[in-house]
Amino acid sequence: MRLDRLLANNGLGTRSQVRDMISRGGVQVNGAVITDPSKHVSEDDEITYGGDQINCRTRLYYLLDKPDGVLTAMEDKRLPCVADYIPSELRSKKLSPVGRLDYHTSGLLIITNDGELSHRLQSPRYKVPKIYLATFRGLEWRENEIATISSGFTIKDKGYSEQIAPANLEPLDFADGTGRAYLTLTEGKTHEVRRIFAHFNKEVLELRRLELAGVKVGEALDSCGTLRPLTEDELNLLFDATGMAQINQQTPC
Ligand code: URA
Repeated sequence: MRLDRLLANNGLGTRSQVRDMISRGGVQVNGAVITDPSKHVSEDDEITYGGDQINCRTRLYYLLDKPDGVLTAMEDKRLPCVADYIPSELRSKKLSPVGRLDYHTSGLLIITNDGELSHRLQSPRYKVPKIYLATFRGLEWRENEIATISSGFTIKDKGYSEQIAPANLEPLDFADGTGRAYLTLTEGKTHEVRRIFAHFNKEVLELRRLELAGVKVGEALDSCGTLRPLTEDELNLLFDATGMAQINQQTPC
């Protein structure tokens, strides 16, 4: 793959911006400054920009801290959607979100073009843990409710019964009829957090996904709206959680 294409694929800028970066001498291949954007590089080459290592990958992995009020979709005619946070130079990379956060949920969303990883992260088979922070209105959590959640239970809220897998609820604080709690799920049923809270007569006022398979965003909302490539360590957490650590073969450049 050409050096300029690789850098653009990694989200470092448009093709013309990365050509500029290369001709200004900012990019090194195997320790040598390379100023020719058309130089071909392979998986074995060590490529750095400003001291940071660049992945030689055709599969791309990003973390979006989705703001509240954004649709988990790659296109919508009326509402803001996650595609609005993907820079134009990455639009042709067939990226899509892994699973779905509700319009009014903020937090961690993986965006990738790795279909196998996406499928596995969403499959109940791998029980990938997802941690949410919910602000709710209602009564304080009781021990027996927390125990019911931890052993799994049945919800009948849509005219039919649905089994909810064992989950972990950890109350955080409570005052004047509102509180906060962490909820760890290992499956991803539609509106699952809101439905669990509603089952116990609690209304979710705010919901933020903080963690997926050990990959994290902060509790504060200040990183909402930012898209960044996953680090190597974060990617390994996702591969480990889905049994892909052994089978992951990167397509050569
Ligand atoms: N559960 C919900 O209720 N909403 C989300 O966005 C994610 C999990």
